[in-house]
Amino acid sequence: MQQRQILVTGSLPYLNADIHLGHLVEYLQADFWARFQKMRGHEVRYFSGDDTHGTATMLRAQKEGRKPEAILAEVKAAHERDFRDFGIDFDHYGSTHSPANEAVVHEIWAALRAQGCIEERDVTQLFDPEAGIFLADRFVVGGCPRCKASGQYGDNCEVCGATYDPSELIDPRSAITGAIPEERTHPHLFVKLEPFHDFLEAWTQAPGRVPVETANWLKGSFLSEPLRDWDISRPAPYFGFEIPDSPGNYFYVWVDAPIGYIAATREWCEANGDDPDRWWRNPDCEIHQFLGKDIAYFHTLFWPVMLKVAGFQLPKAVHVHGFLTVGGEKMSKRKGTFIRARTFLEHLSPEYLRYYYASKLSSRVDDIDLNFDEFVQKVNADLVGKVVNLASRTARFVKGRELPVSYPAGRDEGLFAAGVAAGETIARAYESRDTNRAMREIMALADRANEFVESRAPWKLKKDPDRADELLEICAIALNLFRQITIYLAPILPRFAEESARLLSIEGTTRWRDASEPVVGSRVAKFEHLMERVDPEKVTAMIEASREISDATNDGAGAADETAGAFADAPALAGEPLEAECTIDDFSKIDLRVAEIVSARAVPKADKLLELELSLGGDERRRVFAGIKKAYQPEDLVGRLTVVVANLAPRKMKFGTSEGMVLAAGPGGDELFLLSPDAGAKPGQRIR
Ligand code: 2FM
Ligand code: ZN
Repeated sequence: MQQRQILVTGSLPYLNADIHLGHLVEYLQADFWARFQKMRGHEVRYFSGDDTHGTATMLRAQKEGRKPEAILAEVKAAHERDFRDFGIDFDHYGSTHSPANEAVVHEIWAALRAQGCIEERDVTQLFDPEAGIFLADRFVVGGCPRCKASGQYGDNCEVCGATYDPSELIDPRSAITGAIPEERTHPHLFVKLEPFHDFLEAWTQAPGRVPVETANWLKGSFLSEPLRDWDISRPAPYFGFEIPDSPGNYFYVWVDAPIGYIAATREWCEANGDDPDRWWRNPDCEIHQFLGKDIAYFHTLFWPVMLKVAGFQLPKAVHVHGFLTVGGEKMSKRKGTFIRARTFLEHLSPEYLRYYYASKLSSRVDDIDLNFDEFVQKVNADLVGKVVNLASRTARFVKGRELPVSYPAGRDEGLFAAGVAAGETIARAYESRDTNRAMREIMALADRANEFVESRAPWKLKKDPDRADELLEICAIALNLFRQITIYLAPILPRFAEESARLLSIEGTTRWRDASEPVVGSRVAKFEHLMERVDPEKVTAMIEASREISDATNDGAGAADETAGAFADAPALAGEPLEAECTIDDFSKIDLRVAEIVSARAVPKADKLLELELSLGGDERRRVFAGIKKAYQPEDLVGRLTVVVANLAPRKMKFGTSEGMVLAAGPGGDELFLLSPDAGAKPGQRIR
């Protein structure tokens, strides 16, 4: 087999998010694939790194009174630790905030300029006069111009789904300071994409380049009309790289993010005496990029243009995956299904998740669902019940003995040879990222091996000293089938494969071709427990540990703060009439419930907000931020019943996420009157 040269990338996670189970879908899928290719003897490197730049990082640094660099280092270490502990084996993990990245950004920029791809145009945008910054859409909050719902961020309404320009919001405010934004004009730099239309069409539609779903989506949307120019500059202040020939303007984070792939390669080459051009300017090197469907268009429209213009090698394939749902739903902090990598590791073995994801993933873009009942069942039935069991029920009978010097092929019913043949089918499944298929094939081998053991009943042979040789033979067969299976599982369960090798006193790295060579003559070591069953109670404990009434961490989606929250709540709290007509159907969408205020506290540094913990009956708890600080002492509210909008989309604020809205009447300030039901109403009751 000819050796291939393969560069694998995992998309660069944002700095301001902890690694969670959703992220891991991608890094594990790419890790399975890269490990498989390495086992096949190819030259493979797997790179990723932190995506560091942008307004969110700048605001966080300001808020924490730290230099962005200090935050960067801390987060990178945490990300790397999470990945390492999940067995994700990057050859190098870089950062977009690195000299190597800045150098490549400058090279690509020079090429874009030299080839006349850049145009300058004025852009009018909302500007926060207090913070002194232009506001990206998600930093503007106000009332929906269509349905009048308050507290809508950016350019779309979560209540009625309308999309609009943020300047059309009713009473728009900066989500950063609460200031009234002004329209200001500033020159921006654009990459002209339309001249690349034909190139992008041909490139994205080439068979195997991107999944068919993605190719069709690109063709039906972006490529069906002239490509719009891409705005790639942001005015100061911005945390990023300044544009060399446009002082005071910075590269938009999505310019330097993918360039981080090349920078990571350069850093690795520098440290290992290799030539980066052998990876990024070499048609013989296959570049495979793994990424989520939400960022596919960055990687299939803008990024190929940058690579092409600067003479870099284009990816051979872009492998797009879907999102992770948990229990069939979007991950939720309140339900404890937004699970951080670290929390998982504190409760469960990473190999469980590696196997479970492998069993769910294929080459399709579909979302995958993590169902915890299935998770427990699959790991216990397959890995413990089938694979580990094969070793545990045979190794102990031959502990300390040496395996026969030749493999008793004539007595294994052709199972080892069948396993070798199946290896090719399994390899094809791995190659096409159909690990679901690969796992099914491997488990079928385990089933057959277990049937064999069952039929030979080594536990009976053990009782007959005259049949010790036969016993050794049977166990040698079972252990070799076990070994073959662990090799096929090694891209998914590398640690397990290593420990299994120790059972047969074999050293060294696991290569795919070892699955064709039976192990002979080596001593069988003491059987150590290779994997424990998943304890469902640990799953429950992990979910409990992940359950947050609060949303203490910023996961990068938005950066609203206290003032935004207060403004967002104020109009509804003040009982402003909705101007739009509300039908009975509209009204029935609102889930109003009786709630008991279990605790209340003033939010420090927020002049309007109280943080309320509400009970909605049973153990359903909600945290809500309400702009009623001026009207109530927190301690007076505890134990009181009120009315909450229970199905309001959670809203992120500086201090956490508000999971509902309490209703009050009055003009605002200290004149606000919280609504309450008559005595006798119970928390959780629906208002009808
Ligand atoms: O969506 C994200 O998480 C981005 N940080 C991915 C960047 S991938 C690459 F372009 F850097
Ligand atoms: Zn609306």
